[in-house]
Amino acid sequence: MIPIEWLPDGRVRLIDQTKLPHDETYLETSDYRDLVTAISQMKVRGAPLIGITAAYALALASRETSATDRDELMSRLRTAAEELRATRPTAVNLAWALERALRVAEGATDPQSAIDALETEARRIHEEDVAACHAIGANGASLLDAETTLLTHCNTGSLATGGYGTALGVVRAAWEQGKLERVYVTETRPLLQGARLTAWELQREGIPFTLAVDSAAGSLLRRGLVRAVVVGADRIAANGDLANKIGTYTLAVLAGENGVPFYAAAPTSTIDPNTPSGDDIPIEERDPAEVTALVGMGTTAANPAFDVTPSRYVSAIITENGVASPPYKESLVALLREEAPSRG
Ligand code: MRU
Repeated sequence: MIPIEWLPDGRVRLIDQTKLPHDETYLETSDYRDLVTAISQMKVRGAPLIGITAAYALALASRETSATDRDELMSRLRTAAEELRATRPTAVNLAWALERALRVAEGATDPQSAIDALETEARRIHEEDVAACHAIGANGASLLDAETTLLTHCNTGSLATGGYGTALGVVRAAWEQGKLERVYVTETRPLLQGARLTAWELQREGIPFTLAVDSAAGSLLRRGLVRAVVVGADRIAANGDLANKIGTYTLAVLAGENGVPFYAAAPTSTIDPNTPSGDDIPIEERDPAEVTALVGMGTTAANPAFDVTPSRYVSAIITENGVASPPYKESLVALLREEAPSRG
């Protein structure tokens, strides 16, 4: 499953995730503003995939300009980058990819080389993410026992990354290694990324799963049906606190209460050494209509898209460079210094 691709004619093609699982429709565009909207409206979502989309968007923006001098091009790119950065504040992968792309453009000597370099860099960010996901899958599966049952939240699969997935990459790798008996998938209200997207991915691959409403998680854990919880992350602070889809904190506390390991799986691009703790992570508040739509009644509604899980509930953080254990202040710094071992 390729969630996004750069087409040979200089357009970007992505699957519209708001239409899944009922319709498999694709958006094709050469206008970076369509990608700004696609990220805001969550046609494309998931921390690593948002970063990849933003890098492709800057490559598109560079082609739209008639700028003949480098400074003018850079000024237009910075404007586009600001529009993109404002779409979703929590996932640090977005700012990370934009900064990486802007640095490459700044290093180019003339507008045409900047345009070429931005396309190459966006493709590279995409390819590196796919490789990182495979390494995360392998590193995560090595932590699991045979005949394991997992529980995962939201969607962290091919639809949230360059391909393969982070937490869902661990699920996939465990399945490929014959270690996985079943994975429980929480629905993930209000937008149902678990029920619509994770279930769709797992069904296509024949990986055995059971869908559960979010509020059933405590009961599943207490009844001993889950051997480990594995989730993704949108931003991991320097102390190991992490922001992820709303409901993750609840799962982490319930896992701790029931003696079940709680793992977060993410590429190192999700680690933000400049954010000291979870209290410093900006949490996106989305339109209350996403919550009230189901009942169709006008009420007030809180709709924080993410919550923060304090690091004391996190058994390990699985990355492409290896697995970090507490104390995270030290282990995350060590991982950021590492090069991912080559896959072979
Ligand atoms: O609001 P979303 O659907 O973009 O939220 C996605 C999540 O919270 C994922 O768990 C996270 O981005 C990691 S995706 C590999």
